[in-house]
Amino acid sequence: MSDSFYVTTPIYYVNDAPHIGHAYTTVHADVLARWRRLHGDDVLFLTGTDEHGLKIQRAAEERGVSPQEWADTTSARFRDAWTLLDISNDDFIRTTEDRHRVSVQAFLQEVYDNGYIALDTYEGLYCVACEAYYTDDDLVDGLCPIHRRPVETVTEENYFFQLSRFEQPLLDYYAAHPEAVQPDGKRNEVLGFIKQGLRDFSMSRTSITWGIPLPWDPNHVTYVWYDALINYATAVGFGADPAEFARRWPVQYHLLAKDILRFHAVYWPAMLMAAGLPLPEHVFAHGYLLVGGEKMSKTSLNNIAPADLVPEFGSDGFRYHFVTDLHFGQDGDFSYEGMVARYNADLANNFGNLASRVLNMAMSYCDGRVPDARADGPLRAQAAVAFETMEAAFPALDFSGAFGAVWQLIRDANAYIEDSAPWKTHKAGDAAATAAVLGDCLETLRIVALLASPLIPRAATELWRRLGLDGTPEQARLPESAQWGSVPTAGNPLEKGAALFPRLEPTL
Ligand code: MSP
Repeated sequence: MSDSFYVTTPIYYVNDAPHIGHAYTTVHADVLARWRRLHGDDVLFLTGTDEHGLKIQRAAEERGVSPQEWADTTSARFRDAWTLLDISNDDFIRTTEDRHRVSVQAFLQEVYDNGYIALDTYEGLYCVACEAYYTDDDLVDGLCPIHRRPVETVTEENYFFQLSRFEQPLLDYYAAHPEAVQPDGKRNEVLGFIKQGLRDFSMSRTSITWGIPLPWDPNHVTYVWYDALINYATAVGFGADPAEFARRWPVQYHLLAKDILRFHAVYWPAMLMAAGLPLPEHVFAHGYLLVGGEKMSKTSLNNIAPADLVPEFGSDGFRYHFVTDLHFGQDGDFSYEGMVARYNADLANNFGNLASRVLNMAMSYCDGRVPDARADGPLRAQAAVAFETMEAAFPALDFSGAFGAVWQLIRDANAYIEDSAPWKTHKAGDAAATAAVLGDCLETLRIVALLASPLIPRAATELWRRLGLDGTPEQARLPESAQWGSVPTAGNPLEKGAALFPRLEPTL
């Protein structure tokens, strides 16, 4: 049986409409999932929506609808956004689903039975936007350090999760598994946080009803973060399908931004330890996307939806930009001008020109068929380098490095065409030399379409078709299909087609 590969995004709050910040994580997870599918892994790519808690309850109240109605409406908007971006998630979880309640209650009961949850009284400063308590020391000018909004004093009799008991076990675990939190700088932040000392936290609420009741005390509902983190276990059958859970857990990658790293690299692993379960293989915290550039500097990032950009750039153009423009670990600016410039340079020019030049020449010089000849020029070695670079870059989630290698191959191929000038050999009547060079270029295009397919699936599939190849690039398998000459192509009918990425003029 093929390897299980399980990758997740955070489940997004339904108080907000999907914006390019959410899309940033989701597109990367999608590219990773597609890359592993090409390797024949049995991939489970999970995303979804986080629908409980005070924040959602209040958002619904403000609109005069029930929390469930509000959650239904917004959750659907996330699904629509992911459809628009060709996100290939295998499952979409909602925390208001029955399967999730079942799983959360089973998980809680396990942790309770293991003696890590106890009743206590708590008075604390609560930020509703964060759905988290703060101490006086955490506040900045008396306000929530994240949202700069007033916090509320809340007194509750709550059940507490004994996080403090996991301080040493977590430090020991991370010492033995340095790859578990990435990148390195983020792991150090997590270690620093744990070393400051971990406090027990309240994991139930009596002040609200919008949540999952505790199985042993239904007057309390589960704290939204405790409920939300368990989604990753629900989706693979925790408490419902032990065989599926054993096959899928632990997860390979949790992708998220640094804002919620603490929940994923401290709370969640401690919860899993308390339930006697293995910890995630990798928690990867990427940087934050900010808005820069002139045209959008007055717009907050939260107001830019994928649907604002896809009509102009296409879903491939959107995906390409957000995956290659920034280094995945670090913060960076989004700018509309930068997006247009990169689209034109990399997609319209480099990629699009290579495809149209090669197809055009092969149409007129080789009777519209893939020639039965190869020059065995430099592209063969360059294609191998591109693939090897990707194989090395992906495990570190170096997306820009991985696809940078494909675009290097594209530039190499464009340069090779200039150097070997098949139009000259054609003019000189040397059909064999012309066919040999174009044969190399067509084989390179096949490999480019294959390797770029996780990032720009539409254009890659269309190019595949124009090359007269069977099926789709998704059906090909790595590493075999990345080998030069691994697929018999001679005689395949070619098609010229329109520009894959028409040039753009900035319109904002
Ligand atoms: N519901 C919680 C997550 C629970 S996971 C068990 C939550 N939701 S959220 O809607 O606020 O989503 C936060 C996540 O959205 C970030 O961790 C990141 O994945 C993504 N992003 C939101 N804005 C972003 C940027 N500006 N830049 C990069 N990613 C961003 O927290």
